[in-house]
Amino acid sequence: MIAGIDIGSTTTKTVSVEGGVLVRKIKTRAQDAVTSAAGALGKLIIENDIDISEISGIAITGAGASKIKNNIFGIPTQKIDEIKAIGTGGLFLARSLPGLPVGAVPIVITNVGTGTAIIRAGKDGITHLGGSGVGGGTIYGLAKKLLPTADFNGIMDLAKDGRLDQVDLLLEDITDTDISFLDRRSTAANFGKTLDSAGNSDIALAILNMVYQVIGMISVFAAKSAGVDRVVVTGNGSNNPVGKQILDVISGMYGIGFEYPPDAEYTTAAGAALSWQA
Ligand SMILES: Nc1ncnc2c1ncn2[C@@H]1O[C@H](COP(=O)(O)OP(=O)(O)OP(=O)(O)O)[C@@H](O)[C@H]1O
Ligand SMILES: [Mg+2]
Repeated sequence: MIAGIDIGSTTTKTVSVEGGVLVRKIKTRAQDAVTSAAGALGKLIIENDIDISEISGIAITGAGASKIKNNIFGIPTQKIDEIKAIGTGGLFLARSLPGLPVGAVPIVITNVGTGTAIIRAGKDGITHLGGSGVGGGTIYGLAKKLLPTADFNGIMDLAKDGRLDQVDLLLEDITDTDISFLDRRSTAANFGKTLDSAGNSDIALAILNMVYQVIGMISVFAAKSAGVDRVVVTGNGSNNPVGKQILDVISGMYGIGFEYPPDAEYTTAAGAALSWQA
């Protein structure tokens, strides 16, 4: 069995891919990369009642992989380039998406992690199109200073009751007519109004709105430049229900679909395992 370990900036994801199927999935969080990788592997073995000798190789990737210099626990360990891992994992998971002719056309993957990376993957290879430092980490960082909680569920709870028109300057604030294809309720400037009456819920929603609008728009431009009409969203940030609603609105405006494969937070780890070279 090959274990794929993705040591991300926030969480470490570990999987094994057996017979073309993602079988074991583990998420851990540790301060440093070495503890994270060792802990993740330990958890994989103990929780799944696996003998360590069953693991014939470890494929590591993610920001923290550069900190691992040697084989882990004497098991042959290979480092996989993170862009390659996202592209390979994205193509693998996109197979389960309805109507996506995987292989026939390239796919554009937007990996929403702590930051955001956009990758094109197809038969002709995997390329890094670009990305943004605006990502999941931005939500936590802003919440820490602006909200009473920086806990993921706490932020989402607050955002439920948020009103965007308390914080964002909307087109309807500045014009009486639609502009081009933009609805009057569209954001003209994120945080461009921020009324004194704006409460924590409004700010929580506005943070999520800003982050996912940036992610959505750069994804749209990437998809258009790659000549495709769908974007496969991966990373833990693909599980954000408010984020998905914001991406839906962008999808309606620009005609680019956002797709969420199951287990999308394990894309990078799966791609690493699949990239293992015997
Ligand atoms: N329960 C949750 N559901 C959905 N999203 C979450 C949850 N918990 C955290 N997140 C979001 O996921 C983000 C981290 O995503 P992920 O674990 O994919 O990043 P990473 O791989 O560690 O980072 P990177 O790939 O940028 O190095 C957090 O910043 C947060 O916004
Ligand atoms: Mg990641």
